[in-house]
Amino acid sequence: MTIRQWKFEDILSLSELEEQCFSNDRWSYRTFASCYENPAFYGIVAVDGDEIIGYAGITVAADSADIENVLVSERYRRAGVGGKLIESLVSHAVKSGVKSIFLEVRVSNVPAMCLYLKYGFAGNYARTRYYSDGEDCLVMKKDV
Ligand SMILES: CC(C)(COP(=O)(O)OP(=O)(O)OC[C@H]1O[C@@H](n2cnc3c(N)ncnc32)[C@H](O)[C@@H]1OP(=O)(O)O)[C@@H](O)C(=O)NCCC(=O)NCCS
Repeated sequence: MTIRQWKFEDILSLSELEEQCFSNDRWSYRTFASCYENPAFYGIVAVDGDEIIGYAGITVAADSADIENVLVSERYRRAGVGGKLIESLVSHAVKSGVKSIFLEVRVSNVPAMCLYLKYGFAGNYARTRYYSDGEDCLVMKKDV
């Protein structure tokens, strides 16, 4: 498994993977394309052979950064791919000189929360009814 930066031609595969894994609030092809065009955004993919098996992205703004998305294809979960993606985003944020990294996670998303806790994020505050289906989100933060 290798990790590399997104290419424009990956976007169709990314939006297909997103469709397989998320029922709510999924990113469209257009959202991926606008991230790709944003110079503050850094997107990465995990690749096994020719297959994209996961992706993640982060936006850097002055001294803080926001992790926008992390996803691993169902068949490849619990094998360390999500952790490698997070490590790579954190390393990019550190090189960019940020002081803190933030992210938002659904309060019901135990796998994602455990992943973020393992990589040094801690709960910061909650936003009630943040998602379109009314679920709350927890904002998590890591100081770097
Ligand atoms: C969250 C997600 C990215 C984790 O990816 P992954 O490749 O399975 O994660 P890893 O194998 O690197 O696991 C790293 C740690 O995360 C935690 N973790 C991952 N899956 C977990 C689960 N199902 N239950 C509990 N903890 C879990 C564990 O602490 C794990 O460390 P360990 O293996 O030493 O116990 C993956 O489940 C996913 O794509 N979920 C759907 C998309 C999503 O919800 N993204 C987050 C949006 S905020």
